[in-house]
Amino acid sequence: MNPLILYNIKEVLTCKSKSPKIKGSLQDLGIIKNATIYIKDGKILDINKYDSFFKEKPPNAIDCSDYIALPGFIDCHTHLVFAGSREKEFVQKVKGKSYLEILASGGGILNTVESTRKASFSDLYSKARSTLEKMLSYGTTTVEAKTGYGLDIINELKCLYIMEFLRKDFDIVPTYLGAHTIPKEFKENKDYYIYNLIYSLLSIIKQNNLAEFCDVFCEENAFSLSESEYILLRAKELGLKLKIHAEQINYSGSAELAAKLGAVSADHLENISEKGIEALAGKKVIGVLLPAVNFHLMSNKYAPARLMVEKGVPIALASDYNPGSSPIFNMQLVMAMACRFLKLTPAEAINAATINAAFAIDKADEIGSIETDKKADIVLYEVPSYDYIPYSFGDNLAKIVIKNGKIIKSS
Ligand code: NIG
Ligand code: FE
Repeated sequence: MNPLILYNIKEVLTCKSKSPKIKGSLQDLGIIKNATIYIKDGKILDINKYDSFFKEKPPNAIDCSDYIALPGFIDCHTHLVFAGSREKEFVQKVKGKSYLEILASGGGILNTVESTRKASFSDLYSKARSTLEKMLSYGTTTVEAKTGYGLDIINELKCLYIMEFLRKDFDIVPTYLGAHTIPKEFKENKDYYIYNLIYSLLSIIKQNNLAEFCDVFCEENAFSLSESEYILLRAKELGLKLKIHAEQINYSGSAELAAKLGAVSADHLENISEKGIEALAGKKVIGVLLPAVNFHLMSNKYAPARLMVEKGVPIALASDYNPGSSPIFNMQLVMAMACRFLKLTPAEAINAATINAAFAIDKADEIGSIETDKKADIVLYEVPSYDYIPYSFGDNLAKIVIKNGKIIKSS
C-alpha cells in the first residue's frame, strides 16, 4: 500500500521526549514548521521539512497547509465501563451535598454499581464502544480504563472481558479497581472483601492477563492508607503495575505511598502535601491531574499544579470520565479547564495530555509523540495557533483523526 503523506503541515507539535517532561521542558513542544509526515503500516516512517518536491502529487497525499498536527490525546484515567447516569445526584450537589455524603448514604459509586451489575454484557459493551468512538472523534486515540463498578467476581470480570473485546478495535489499557468502594454486601465485613480481592480476584486477573494496572481509591469511606498498601503490594507481587486515586478529598499520605511502592502514577492530588510533592518528584511518579472533577463537583480546591511543575513532578492530564465525578470524555475541554483552573499554559497542557500521559500508562515507547517508528496516531486541527485549542471551548476542533495510520475522521 502507498504510504499516507501529510504534506505542508503548518506546524507539527512533536511532543518528543525520552523521559517524562518536567519543569521548563513541559513548555517545549518540539515544533517543526512546514513539515511532511510519511505514514506506513500504521507507523510514522519519517518526518521532514516540506520542500515542495512533488512534481506530481502522489496518491494518498493530503495538503495540510491549514492544519496543526498533534499526537492523539492519551486519556490516562477513565472509568469507561458503567451503566446509567447520576444526574439526580448532580442536583443534590448543586444544592450543597458533598460527594462523600452522597457515597456514605448509599448513593454515589454504589448507585452505579447497582446499575452496572444489572446491565447485560452487550448493553455495557455498546455504551462503552459508543463513548470510545466519540473520544476518537475528539482526538483521543488511547484510553486507560478502570473497572470498579462490578465489585464482585462475576461483574468485575464482565467489565474486564468487555474491555478485552473492545481492545480488538481500540487501544485500551485495562486497570483493575476492585478497591473502589466497599460493596453493600460487605459493608459490615470490609476485611473479608479485601481478602477476597487480594487472594481471589487479583490472581484470576493476573492468570488471564486481564489488566495491566491495579488501582485503589485511598480515601475516608473507601480504603485507608494501610489497606491500600496491602492491596497494592499483592498486586505488585503478581506483576501488575500500580496507580492510586490519591489525596482527592482528604490528605492521607497516599502520594508518599505511591512513591514508596514505585507506582507509575498518583492521580487527583488536590490535597497533596509538600512532602508528597517531593516524593513524587524524587521517584518520577506521574501526577495525573483531573480538573474536570473539581469543576463538576463544584470544588474550588484544584491540585497545586504550578507548585508541582516547579518542584519537578511530571504531570499529566486526563478526563476521569465516569458518571459521578466527571461525566466528560472531551480532552480538548479538559485542557481548557487545565489552563483556567490549574494555570497551565496551553503548551504545558498539550504535553501533559500527550507524551506525559503516555508515560502515565507506561506506553511512551509506542505513543504520545509524533516521531519515527511510533504509532501513527495523529490529529489535525484547523486553528490559527495551538493556543487556540484550549482558548476556545465547547467546539470540537479536531478536523482529521488518524489512528494506526488510517484516516478515521475527516471533516
Ligand atoms: O475518580 N474517586 C473515586 N472514583 C471516581 C469517581 C467514581 C464515581 O463517583 O462513580 C473518581 O473521581
Ligand atoms: Fe477516577
